[in-house]
Amino acid sequence: MEDDQAVSGLVQLARTPLRERHALLTSALSLPTLDPLAAVNTLRREHPDLDPSVCSALVTQQQLLLAGADRGLIDATGLWMTTPVGLEQASRPQVALRRASLLASAGIRSVVDATAGIGVDSHAFARRGMHVVAVEKDPVTSEVCAANLTASLSDVDAATNVITADATEPDLLGSLAQQLPSPVAVFVDPSRRGSTRPVDGSRARPERDPERWSPPWSFVDSLRSHFDFVAAKAPGSFVPSAAWACEWLGVRDHIVECSVYSTAPPGFLATHQATLLSSVPDSEITYAAEVPHAPSHSSSAQPPPVGPLEDYLGEPHPVFRHSLAALCGTTAHAVHPDSHWITSAQPTIEGVRWYRLLQSVPVKQIANAAHDHGIDAVAIKCRESRRSISELRESIGLPDGNRYAVVVAAGLDNALLVERVH
Ligand SMILES: C[S@@+](CC[C@H](N)C(=O)[O-])C[C@H]1O[C@@H](n2cnc3c(N)ncnc32)[C@H](O)[C@@H]1O
Repeated sequence: MEDDQAVSGLVQLARTPLRERHALLTSALSLPTLDPLAAVNTLRREHPDLDPSVCSALVTQQQLLLAGADRGLIDATGLWMTTPVGLEQASRPQVALRRASLLASAGIRSVVDATAGIGVDSHAFARRGMHVVAVEKDPVTSEVCAANLTASLSDVDAATNVITADATEPDLLGSLAQQLPSPVAVFVDPSRRGSTRPVDGSRARPERDPERWSPPWSFVDSLRSHFDFVAAKAPGSFVPSAAWACEWLGVRDHIVECSVYSTAPPGFLATHQATLLSSVPDSEITYAAEVPHAPSHSSSAQPPPVGPLEDYLGEPHPVFRHSLAALCGTTAHAVHPDSHWITSAQPTIEGVRWYRLLQSVPVKQIANAAHDHGIDAVAIKCRESRRSISELRESIGLPDGNRYAVVVAAGLDNALLVERVH
């Protein structure tokens, strides 16, 4: 946070007693959103004794919380507060609760959350009955975290403590863990933004280089030799070394994170697995995953079976990119060793978007084939092709549509004209 006024307003708000803070946030959340200045003036009229910087902080909270709630990232009922960066980096509540449930099922009684942020993971650990010490380096974020844990856990008998400190200080995590009921897990969710430029001056994006995370991945790795159980959060593109168990998590169309564990929690199908979460409780879909550990190895360690095109073409959710063999089982196979598209006689495997195959035809003849099928709009799915969507769209000559698609899969000579199965 750069603006001193904004920081001071936010910190004052975080330190306001729970009941009063909740009332202020609730009234800010109910104000019209279109004109922030008018909202500040309304708050100043309604609360003449309130510091003007707190009124501004409340309107900033209103904007951040409503936008975050729209994306399913945070609760906007007046219990939670955030910073702009804190919201961007926070775990999704649904994902944090899954992680906390897995730790609880592993018998963990306490967690040292080494990089607590605004406290979404700490909250989930406490909700699942664990003692929590939340460590956060940034003093303002730490204030927000403490306010959030007090407010969001006021309905349960939770044991949480928030400490402003650098988790990499020698012996800090160990001494905190010693004061907690065991078994204790250490959880790290490193920051992946705003890290310093590497000494070579390169502009590589920090989120792609685990050594530029804060704390760096080597620090997370080193915790394994000091603690019985270590868990960490990494981006969905992350592939941990073979020493770690992990679960890639998908929500809607995205891979949201790679949850990493020093030991696979009970119930894991394999050391590595992938899960597609759903908004309906207990209806997640999980498959075992294989991990490519050798750097030169670009596909899954156990390749899925490959075979000829069947009546249906399947597009597995991206979170299952390392799970194709498990997902195909005995009823489906990949269309080519280099492709993630699968094919089957029945569109029944879960976690897959299914299409009925209408015709396999050279790209040049797709427009004619579509015309013969009475199709006048198609989606183009060509992520595995070297040709761009715009190039293919131009050569196919049809507008975008939902019901039908043209698929250009790696390794296949022909394009596939398909119809979505609902
Ligand atoms: C990705 S966020 C954590 C989000 C958190 N899990 C949540 O769901 O709200 C990482 C946080 O770690 C903090 N951080 C980074 N390096 C740290 C360190 N060495 N010690 C303690 N906190 C650190 C950052 O300030 C940031 O707030």
